[in-house]
Amino acid sequence: MMKLRNNTVLITGGSSGIGLELSKVLIQKGNKVIICGKSNEKLEAAKKILPQLVTYQCDLSDGQQCADFARRITENHPDLNILVNNAAMVSKIDLFTNENAMELAEKEYQTNLLAPIRLTKLLYPTISANEAPAIINVTTGLIYAPRVIYPFYNSSKAALHSFTQTLRIRLKEEKTKVVEVMFPAVDTPWHQGNPPKIAISVETAVSEMIHGLEKGKTEIRVGGAKILHLISRIAPAFALKKVNEIK
Ligand SMILES: NC(=O)c1ccc[n+]([C@@H]2O[C@H](COP(=O)([O-])OP(=O)(O)OC[C@H]3O[C@@H](n4cnc5c(N)ncnc54)[C@H](OP(=O)(O)O)[C@@H]3O)[C@@H](O)[C@H]2O)c1
Repeated sequence: MMKLRNNTVLITGGSSGIGLELSKVLIQKGNKVIICGKSNEKLEAAKKILPQLVTYQCDLSDGQQCADFARRITENHPDLNILVNNAAMVSKIDLFTNENAMELAEKEYQTNLLAPIRLTKLLYPTISANEAPAIINVTTGLIYAPRVIYPFYNSSKAALHSFTQTLRIRLKEEKTKVVEVMFPAVDTPWHQGNPPKIAISVETAVSEMIHGLEKGKTEIRVGGAKILHLISRIAPAFALKKVNEIK
C-alpha cells in the first residue's frame, strides 16, 4: 500500500505527457508536486495549467546541472519523500547513417540512465529521512523486447530496469520503497504527433499507474506492457518480432 496524500513528490520531466498528467492527479489528491524540465517555456505552460506546481529548469543530460539541481532540491525541499524518475528522451535514428549518433547516444544514456542513478544517490538521504519514502522509476514494455528503430532507448531503459531491481534488494531492510512502472505506447508529445495505433491515452496510463501504486505493487506493468512481459517469457523471438512490427 502506498499512501498518495500529503507527500512531497519530485517528478522529473513533469512539464509534458505522463509527468504532467501525474502531476495533475497527485495535486488533486493533496500532494505537493515539484517538477523539472529542460524547456522553460514548457515549465511555464505547465504552471499555467497547474498553478500549485513548483518548477525547476534543469538539463538532466548534464551531470553538473543534475547535481546542482539535486542540491537545490535538498536545500529548498527537505520534506521531499518521493522521487519519480520520469524524464527521458529517444532518438529514432540509424546508427550508421546518422552523423551525430554518438552525441545522441551519450545524451540519451545520461538522461535516461545516469540522471536517475545520480538523483537516487544525491536525494536518497533526504527522501529516506522522511515518512513514506519512495523512489519510482519509469520504464517501458520495451525492456522485455527492444524496438530496432530506437538504437539506444531500449538498452537505456533495460539498464534502468536492472538498476531498479538491484536498488530494491539493496534497500529491502530500509523503509524506502522502490517501484518501477513499465508503460506501453502512450499518446503524448513524445511521439511528435504520430503515436503508434496501439497507444493508450495518458489519462488511462496514469490512472493504472496510480492504481498499482495504491495497491502497493513494486513492478507496475501498464496495459500492453503486461502482455508483452508474458509473451517475452513464453516466446521471446515472437515478442521481438511483434514489437518490431508495430506501426
Ligand atoms: N509515451 C510513450 O509511448 C511511452 C511509452 C513507454 C514509456 N514512456 C516513458 O514515459 C516517460 C515520460 O514520457 P512522455 O511520453 O510523457 O514524454 P514527453 O511528453 O516527451 O515528456 C518528456 C518530459 O521529459 C523532459 N525531459 C526530457 N529530456 C530532459 C532533460 N535532458 N532534462 C530535463 N528534462 C527532460 C521533457 O521536458 P523538455 O522537453 O523541456 O526537455 C518532458 O517534460 C519517459 O520516461 C518515457 O520513456 C513513454
